[in-house]
Amino acid sequence: MYVCLCKGITERQLRAAIAEGNTEFKQLKCELGVGSQCGKCVPVAMAILAEENAKT
Ligand code: FES
Repeated sequence: MYVCLCKGITERQLRAAIAEGNTEFKQLKCELGVGSQCGKCVPVAMAILAEENAKT
């Protein structure tokens, strides 16, 4: 499922990037570009990030 349509980023890519140590939103933005255009994906990306961070 696409999380960020502007940058074509999938949920899987996002979770993989978080697992690689990008545990802050700004790191994900830097790494993948998520949320760097329209910003509509930010709430969903933040929710996925919180979910992944809660696992560790
Ligand atoms: Fe992610 Fe637009 S959908 S920046």
